[in-house]
Amino acid sequence: MEDFKKSTVYQIYPKSFADSRGNGTGDLKGVISKLDYLKELGIDYIWMTPFFLSPQKDNGYDVADYYRIDPSYGTMEDFDELVKEAAKREISLMLDMVFNHTSSRHEWFQKALAGDEKYKNYYIFKRGKGPGIPPTNWESKFGGNAWEYVEALDEYYLHLFDISQPDLNWDNEEVRKEMQKVILFWMGKGVKGFRFDVVNLISKEAFEDDYEGDGRKFYTDGPNIHKYLRELNEKTFGKENGILTVGEMSSTSMENCYQYAGEDGKEFSMVFSFHHLKVDFMGNEKWVLVPYDFAKLKQILFDWQTNMAKNHAWNAVFWCNHDQPRVVSRFGDTGKYWKESAKMLATVIHCLRGTPYIYQGEELGMTNAEFQDISKYRDVESLNHFQILQEKGLNETQAYQILQVHSRDNSRTPMQWSEEDQAGFTKGKPWIEVNENYKKINASQQLKDPDSIFHYYKKLVSLRKEYDVIAYGDFEALDVKNPSVMAYRRTYKGETLVAASNFYGKEAVWNPETDLKDHQYLLGNYSGPLPEKVTVLRPYETRLYYKGRIVAIN
Ligand code: GLC
Repeated sequence: MEDFKKSTVYQIYPKSFADSRGNGTGDLKGVISKLDYLKELGIDYIWMTPFFLSPQKDNGYDVADYYRIDPSYGTMEDFDELVKEAAKREISLMLDMVFNHTSSRHEWFQKALAGDEKYKNYYIFKRGKGPGIPPTNWESKFGGNAWEYVEALDEYYLHLFDISQPDLNWDNEEVRKEMQKVILFWMGKGVKGFRFDVVNLISKEAFEDDYEGDGRKFYTDGPNIHKYLRELNEKTFGKENGILTVGEMSSTSMENCYQYAGEDGKEFSMVFSFHHLKVDFMGNEKWVLVPYDFAKLKQILFDWQTNMAKNHAWNAVFWCNHDQPRVVSRFGDTGKYWKESAKMLATVIHCLRGTPYIYQGEELGMTNAEFQDISKYRDVESLNHFQILQEKGLNETQAYQILQVHSRDNSRTPMQWSEEDQAGFTKGKPWIEVNENYKKINASQQLKDPDSIFHYYKKLVSLRKEYDVIAYGDFEALDVKNPSVMAYRRTYKGETLVAASNFYGKEAVWNPETDLKDHQYLLGNYSGPLPEKVTVLRPYETRLYYKGRIVAIN
């Protein structure tokens, strides 16, 4: 879409979206078969997580060939058809570029292992500090030391993620050129957007031990990062108008994001940052059980809203993706207020300043899988940490409790299409089990019910298109200290939108800081009459008030 500030992006995890062949894994033809559903929702872009040739150790984030489609997802003809069919419905495709690392099965890495100097220099090989001692004490994000020893070379290679995901050496110009070629290839196929995986990790600094942390300070937002991104932009997507780009920024700083997502367009259109999704961690430690900190959640979201705007930079706004647990399980309620809380959380995100992302199934209020048995888990990070937690002294039950809350598999269960077997996702045996609640939560039911979470998302997507204040407005926090309500105001050329959302299962009182008498009630998640007092919000209630242009609300 021309004006991306009015757009909404829908994320598809193809492995779990729709299986057209009955072999238990989703595929491109499956995606094509659901384009009408996405058109109905009203989204503008589909971000597809990687479907390139891959041994699937990290479900495609381990790319063995950037130019080929993994046969488990289909063929290049299927991809071309997808682009064409999506375009017919005014939907553009955004592909996932995993450029920090390749799969260890990639030809380049295989050549490197065979001692070919050219390709060794595509990666980061270093000598150990002594026999059996890796070059640094950095930890892999998936657990364990971040270096793997290669006996034949008597050297270690760096893998910030799994052993099967060796990091690329971006200081090598040839690597940068290879990556440019990849983007140009997919642009040539009609792709209109790119998401760049953990892209702020590509410029590594000093290779030193980290005595305070896990090493991230030496490779996050590194010294040449902006230079490399600007170059990538200039040589590839920056040459064509209207290509939407989003950088996934791991443990980044806001100051860096002003540049990554600056409105001058020199780097990306926008960024994903994750600080607001660490409010149920202990510092950077994810594998713990702590209740989420609402005050912190609000403060982080608001700080990013305010400061990114002040510095002319643009956010991607989101709760969910394939790495995050389901938001309704995390910050909402999966019981009595399931529907209300799912709608409330949607409202918060979709009325912020930034481009909203919907992760498949979020629009149905899908919940965490909460698997009880390790044999049901598939995610490499979860499997590694199940071991690590037990090595640290936790018993199995405690390790499960943590996985049930934090595992990435929580959001990777098949899309719940219908009440049919396997939720209508496959005619075969799914690669990961379907969430047991598919008979209660599924698309076919929600499409029929005008009060469903699906229809509520649809409305939010269309409001962004109709109301300039949602797309372009300034942001201002309201009632900041309120312990249970998140409230804010957006303003734009005489239009005002006020959003107030109660994050708890009890009534809450809030302070709008202005008289709302001259505002019109635009949307909310309760039917029937409103409470007499505007300042009272029912459990998980959300309300939008609008002043300005009158537009018919459908
Ligand atoms: C990103 C992806 C995640 C993947 C990791 C390594 O965080 O979203 O799924 O495991 O990068 O590529």
